[in-house]
Amino acid sequence: MAESTMQKIVSLAKRRGFIFQSSEIYGGLKACYDYGPLGVELKRNVKNAWWEDVVTRRSDVVGLDCSIIMHPDVWRASGHLAGFADPLVDCKNCKERFRADKAPRAVPGSPIVYREGGRKDGKKLDGVVPPQGYVCPVCGSGDLSDERQFNLMFRTSLGPVDPMQEILNAVDELAGLEGAARKERLANIIGSSAVYLRPETAQGMFVNFLNVLNSARVKPPFGVAQCGKSYRNEITTSNLTFRTCEFEQMELEFFVEPGTDDEWYEYWSKARFDWYTSLGMKADKLRLRPHEQCELAHYAKACVDVEYFYPFENPDGEGEWGELEGIANRTDYDLQKHTEYSGKDLSYFETETKKRYTPYVIEPAAGADRATLAFLCDAFDEEVVDAEKNDVRTVLRFHPRLAPVKVAVFPLVKKDGMPDRARDIMNELLGEGIQTFYDESGAIGRRYRRMDEVGTPWCVTVDNGTLEDGTVTVRERDSMAQSRIPREGIGEYFRNRLKQSR
Ligand code: GAP
Repeated sequence: MAESTMQKIVSLAKRRGFIFQSSEIYGGLKACYDYGPLGVELKRNVKNAWWEDVVTRRSDVVGLDCSIIMHPDVWRASGHLAGFADPLVDCKNCKERFRADKAPRAVPGSPIVYREGGRKDGKKLDGVVPPQGYVCPVCGSGDLSDERQFNLMFRTSLGPVDPMQEILNAVDELAGLEGAARKERLANIIGSSAVYLRPETAQGMFVNFLNVLNSARVKPPFGVAQCGKSYRNEITTSNLTFRTCEFEQMELEFFVEPGTDDEWYEYWSKARFDWYTSLGMKADKLRLRPHEQCELAHYAKACVDVEYFYPFENPDGEGEWGELEGIANRTDYDLQKHTEYSGKDLSYFETETKKRYTPYVIEPAAGADRATLAFLCDAFDEEVVDAEKNDVRTVLRFHPRLAPVKVAVFPLVKKDGMPDRARDIMNELLGEGIQTFYDESGAIGRRYRRMDEVGTPWCVTVDNGTLEDGTVTVRERDSMAQSRIPREGIGEYFRNRLKQSR
């Protein structure tokens, strides 16, 4: 069977060092991935582009880098401890554990056929879709447990306390308690030392609101941005790095005066959509999808997702819209909650107008891993160069800002001093901070194709012309056109090409 686009991308990602399964030599770990030498550059370029465009190039946004472990009261105030949960269901047939809200929908009472134990060779069983209106996503059975809420936060403990030992010490006491009382006592024992890995970077920015206000001399409208790891014990993980338990977010909390929030919400929705197209993402594979009223998080007045049409496989074929980023109007919910729980007044006093208010927050929340995956999928292309010769080249058409390697330098042959001259060019470009790769092995055409496959926008070849008149060949990735430029000033030439690509 022909490979799907996604299978081709996954295999390229591994073969060329973009994304590897974590702990692969031990059989891998579900939904955990490592970025290889090219992947780490690509993701870093995505994060740098975000930081540059959202923070560095704006006078109204400042940055933060907060601790992953925060005071547990932060999560009480934000509502994550009580409500950051997914509905979890067990399949009694194949033992799969899955999210009820992501399970395939079916009409209650309609007939279904599935295999015993979910095994291919299992006995065929007849059943009906249960009243919940969904079946097991793996084996299709309707023999399911009740839904229960599963909190997505990873819990750990801080300090020299071992909750296991505390529980052991209290075994006799616990044995003497009944049902709810036992559960409550156990929760107290665990809770006394419990801390959580942050499930979003946003809260670090809310709890530092006063610190930023007092130290950075900012006033609304202004934003605080952060890029860093977040952790969620996701029940359903899939499609490479799309949904994982450890991921990086790029979040902006933009504080505005109430009454101006709708305007800023529109502004950021457009600005964030445009950011992806400015980095070369195809506009027809992007959309803004406003949330229905029933989808809105409890804190949100409005929310719109920037979605990308990922080439994921699904029962209807290839391709499915998936969230890339959410832009939410969080109102003053978070600052009010942290005011209530911390006892610190997180309102803003405007000296000119003598007005005091708690700012509303517009939050564009993006995922660095999802964006990297979307840029990778979007860049992937198989171009028929010569149909008669069945010549097809694989190209990653990355925007130059995102390309992990900007320039590859080759000597045409390994003699006549060409390797030394080519290395000299590589060193000059590296000295300019331009990601450059040197390769002298194999036919020149093959070397170009190898660089196409990892998305390098330009190749430079030192050839006989270089020895004759001091020029080099520049070969363009997208058009495959070649031209000659002087060797002298090559650093400035590529600096300008990168600048022009912005
Ligand atoms: N502070 C708001 C917030 O965290 P979210 O929609 O839950 O909102 C924002 O997350 C972005 O973080 C998503 O649009 C997505 O890009 C990324 N993200 C969320 N969960 C993820 C996961 N399990 N794996 C990879 N990326 C994730």
